[in-house]
Amino acid sequence: MSAIRVLPELLVSQIAAGEVVERPASVLKELLENSLDAGATEIQVALAAGGVQRVQVDDDGAGIARADLGLAFARHATSKIGTLEDLEGVATMGFRGEALASIAAVARVELVSRAPDAAHAWSLAAEGGAPLEPRPAARAPGTTVAVADLYFNTPARRKFLRTEATEFGHCDEVFRRVALARPDLAFSLKHNGRVSAQLAPQSLAARAAALLGAEFAASSVPVDAQAGPLRLHGLAGTPQAARNRADAQYFFVNGRTVRDRLLMHAVREAYRDTLHGERQPAFVLFLELDPRGVDVNVHPAKTEVRFRDARGMHQFVFHALQRALAPSAADAPVSYASVSAPGPAIQAAPAMHEPAMDYRPAPVPLPAAQKAPPLGYALAQLHGVYILAQNEAGLVLVDMHAAHERILMEKMKLGLDAGGIERQSLLVPAVFRAEALDVATAEESRDALEKLGLELSVAGPNELAVRAAPALLAGGDLPALARSLLAELREFGAAQVLAARQNELLATLACHAAVRANRQLSVPEMNALLREMEETERSGSCNHGRPTWYQLTLADLDKLFLRGR
Ligand SMILES: Nc1ncnc2c1ncn2[C@@H]1O[C@H](COP(=O)(O)OP(=O)(O)OP(=O)(O)O)[C@@H](O)[C@H]1O
Ligand SMILES: [Mg+2]
Repeated sequence: MSAIRVLPELLVSQIAAGEVVERPASVLKELLENSLDAGATEIQVALAAGGVQRVQVDDDGAGIARADLGLAFARHATSKIGTLEDLEGVATMGFRGEALASIAAVARVELVSRAPDAAHAWSLAAEGGAPLEPRPAARAPGTTVAVADLYFNTPARRKFLRTEATEFGHCDEVFRRVALARPDLAFSLKHNGRVSAQLAPQSLAARAAALLGAEFAASSVPVDAQAGPLRLHGLAGTPQAARNRADAQYFFVNGRTVRDRLLMHAVREAYRDTLHGERQPAFVLFLELDPRGVDVNVHPAKTEVRFRDARGMHQFVFHALQRALAPSAADAPVSYASVSAPGPAIQAAPAMHEPAMDYRPAPVPLPAAQKAPPLGYALAQLHGVYILAQNEAGLVLVDMHAAHERILMEKMKLGLDAGGIERQSLLVPAVFRAEALDVATAEESRDALEKLGLELSVAGPNELAVRAAPALLAGGDLPALARSLLAELREFGAAQVLAARQNELLATLACHAAVRANRQLSVPEMNALLREMEETERSGSCNHGRPTWYQLTLADLDKLFLRGR
């Protein structure tokens, strides 16, 4: 091994650049954030060759004074913070004084800036790190930063760049995120001289329509919930706006775009009961909180954050969104006092409302004196999947698995609220292999598991045994269930799982326990199911958001047969 050496400054910057400047899109992100921090109201982006050849951002922000120019490219030089206290309460996008230095280490950078009170602008070029002397230049107050020939001096990294189209795609995504975050500002985007976006200051709804499509705008509901210094606002797509890919999910924390697992999880939870299968919700949400409540200094590209009160944040986002998505709650004033207060270890399931789905024709009012039950009486079973029933209005079609699943879920919810799901001991424990961490989690979370109806014991250093399981769940794949439960407990903690993840867990349990297709049901069994559906809250849709039953009225049938025309 050779002797220990101090690395040259340029090489240090190039190594740092590896973390900050991954591709042209990361350059664009840093430049846009600097313009936002400078208080710009109009930002123009021009790209060439997917940004590899050139990324240029023009703004009308505060500019940089002549005296400060020399420091703009210096590492660890920033105008945004000065002390640890500043860092902990940072409200600007930038704070490291790292971006321009890193970019200048791996590209040719030219900066032209004019402070509002300056007689003229100054231009400063830097190539491979070292800035040249500033020269007088002409431009209106504001700043232009042009970054050319990315990785011209680090060919190894250049090889990792993808096609022009791909790199442009990443830049476009960065642009859209920033433009969505700030509908109050004007933006434009040009690629290879062609205008690809031109946005005037507008409302969030209009900006979302411009960037995510009119369809999203038409099928989303406004979200606005506040609890002390916490606020969640924006637009949440209804199930109609859901997509096959998770490509319209925008979450901003204090204006910063983040991909945070905890927050994504809270959002998924809120959509849990209304979205079908693998459908992905679309949303543009803004979480605002005291900057001291969130640590933004945890990821080199600042795309991750850490909350002081992660659990409270999860709860707040989950409840706020769930309420916004429940139609009947839309106009009811909502108090979030219970959200921030430390709740009991087990929370009652949040009030559920019919999901906003238009799968069902308008409800058929039955006369008050009518004794026939709303879902009527079973006639037959169709292909082992559907129950056909006759009610006052006409024909009722029931998806028997989905309906049963919903009923079981509600039963287990009640059980959980009453102190725990009913358990049944297994004659032969189901032993399965588990990682050491799972074994530890099983021991730590014994109480939580028991409330969920599961009793696990340690059978060896890498083995666990299911000794008791929810009574409603005879015959399911217990080790698989135990494993997913343990993974949840490990990641979110017992209290969290029981409170916020309760519905998801119960839905999984219920799905395993519900009657499978192709089981012959007798007419009395079918009628029993119909009666249980009538008594069950939210029985109109299964736990995955699919409808459980459908009404075909006599009028619908008449139409089908062109009767009475
Ligand atoms: N568009 C701009 N308008 C005005 N000042 C700017 C602009 N871009 C950069 N600056 C100045 O240059 C400094 C260095 O920018 P740089 O992006 O390197 O660091 P930063 O934004 O302070 O922190 P970070 O590395 O976290 O982005 C900034 O602190 C700011 O004073
Ligand atoms: Mg910056």
